[in-house]
Amino acid sequence: MEKDLSQVIRHKAFLDKIVSAEEAASWIEDGMNLGMSGFTLFGEPKEFPRVLSERGKKENFKVNVYTGASLGPAADQAMAEAGIINLRVPYQGNAVMRKKINSGEMYYIDQHLSHTAEEVRKGTLGKIDYAIIEAAAITEDGLIIPTGSVGNSPIFVEKAENVIIEVNLTAPRAYEGLHDIYVQKEQGERREIPIYNVSDRIGEIGIKVDPAKVKGVILSEQPDIPSPLFEPNEETQAIADHLIDFLNKEVEEGRLPISLAPLQSGVGSVANAVLKNMKDAQFRDVEVHSEVLQDGIFDLIDAGVVKFASGTAFSLSKKRVDSLAEDLEKYKGKIIFRPQEISNNPEVIRRLGVISFNTALEVDIYGNVNSTHVSGTNIMNGIGGSGDFARNARITIFVTPSLAKGGAISAIVPFVSHVDHTEHDVDVIITEQGYADLRGLPPVKRAEKIIEIAHPMYRPQLRAYFEEAKEKVGGQTPHILEKAFSFHTNLKEKGTMLFEEAEVK
Ligand code: COA
Repeated sequence: MEKDLSQVIRHKAFLDKIVSAEEAASWIEDGMNLGMSGFTLFGEPKEFPRVLSERGKKENFKVNVYTGASLGPAADQAMAEAGIINLRVPYQGNAVMRKKINSGEMYYIDQHLSHTAEEVRKGTLGKIDYAIIEAAAITEDGLIIPTGSVGNSPIFVEKAENVIIEVNLTAPRAYEGLHDIYVQKEQGERREIPIYNVSDRIGEIGIKVDPAKVKGVILSEQPDIPSPLFEPNEETQAIADHLIDFLNKEVEEGRLPISLAPLQSGVGSVANAVLKNMKDAQFRDVEVHSEVLQDGIFDLIDAGVVKFASGTAFSLSKKRVDSLAEDLEKYKGKIIFRPQEISNNPEVIRRLGVISFNTALEVDIYGNVNSTHVSGTNIMNGIGGSGDFARNARITIFVTPSLAKGGAISAIVPFVSHVDHTEHDVDVIITEQGYADLRGLPPVKRAEKIIEIAHPMYRPQLRAYFEEAKEKVGGQTPHILEKAFSFHTNLKEKGTMLFEEAEVK
């Protein structure tokens, strides 16, 4: 163990700081701000939050937890269950935590993922008392080598008063060399981020840390939690087919080359179906400039479709978690992970001309998108990086099945009940019914197209609303304010957005 350990922790000063997770957790005081590594269940400390949650069951304290994005059940869920979180920033995706947020038992700031580092830098989230960072290794020079995500770890380490490093002894050695850590200067002292191609390497292989700030090093042997692998169903397959049709048309019409433009894809069932479809499409030498890299990316590299992929974190199924060590060797030089303020940076996204596609909960007839709030009130997960990409991409696509909850909910409504992405940022909307290309269209023409991709069951009442709004109210973007949320109020009162036949007329 000692020999192995000195190969993993290669700087003596850090070897001397090994403590138990219990001891490290005992340093945390009520009201502290903790900056933790971790993004889409990858790369979070595992022992530390578990032990802190255990302590929280016996003692009364609450902390504010800032991360890259969502943490796994051993962290987010355990801390939520123990009731030790006062405020969570900037993203979560855990059912237990969601319930606590929506019941008012804890606070949540749903933040663009490229913004959090800037907020930490500006001090609006308070000082970071402790950064707790999972590491695959510590180099001879004292660089922290992250594991399967970079997220906000560099800024947490830079700004924290104290650092705890959780070295994961199961982490593959091949993580070393995967990361490209570039930390921005203060605003006003910056020049451009020198990424001109997706594969440009501009930073260091690890996170610089002042050894004097490292209060403890703890050890863990817990691998990352796999994400569910979504096999395409009829609906997600149809959405994926329409997306490929849209991209094919862009190539045919000469707006995109066969290598497309760097792609960003959200995570989940539709994204997975799209990535699967890409294998058989005509595109070649595609680059990926995304936030999260999931299983499909490896398959596309194997198939010769994707030649390089950048992101800030993995989100992998069990199959790929199990083969991670081999895969990291195999795909070395074809994958790079950057801090999320760089992967999601507006400047870089706009320069590279990214094609972005993310999932919506609901969209309205003019193209506004709600990705986060059910009936405008209860948070689902959060905006994540979707806004970073949507506002700045070359083509911004939102996908959604046209129905939810067995047809009781139409994903296309007169007015979204919460706005994450405005009509100004949305180019294309895709459901299993088809795609609506909104580019170059004024609001009333967009509405025509969007109603066409609603489920046939809901088209008559959407059309009735739109016609009445045009006739009785008019204007640039016709709305009848008293009826704009009629679908949502009908759902609340009658359990379905579907009106009785007589109401449509
Ligand atoms: N109203 C109420 N509930 C709705 C709904 C609507 N309009 N549309 C979908 N839902 C429900 C579904 O029924 C499902 O509920 P369940 O968990 O009880 O089955 C749940 O929302 C998730 O929907 P699903 O169709 O399974 O889609 P998904 O897993 O792909 O998630 C989002 C969709 C929008 C929640 C998810 O993509 C997300 O959080 N996006 C925002 C962040 C983001 O885009 N990240 C990527 C950026 S890089």
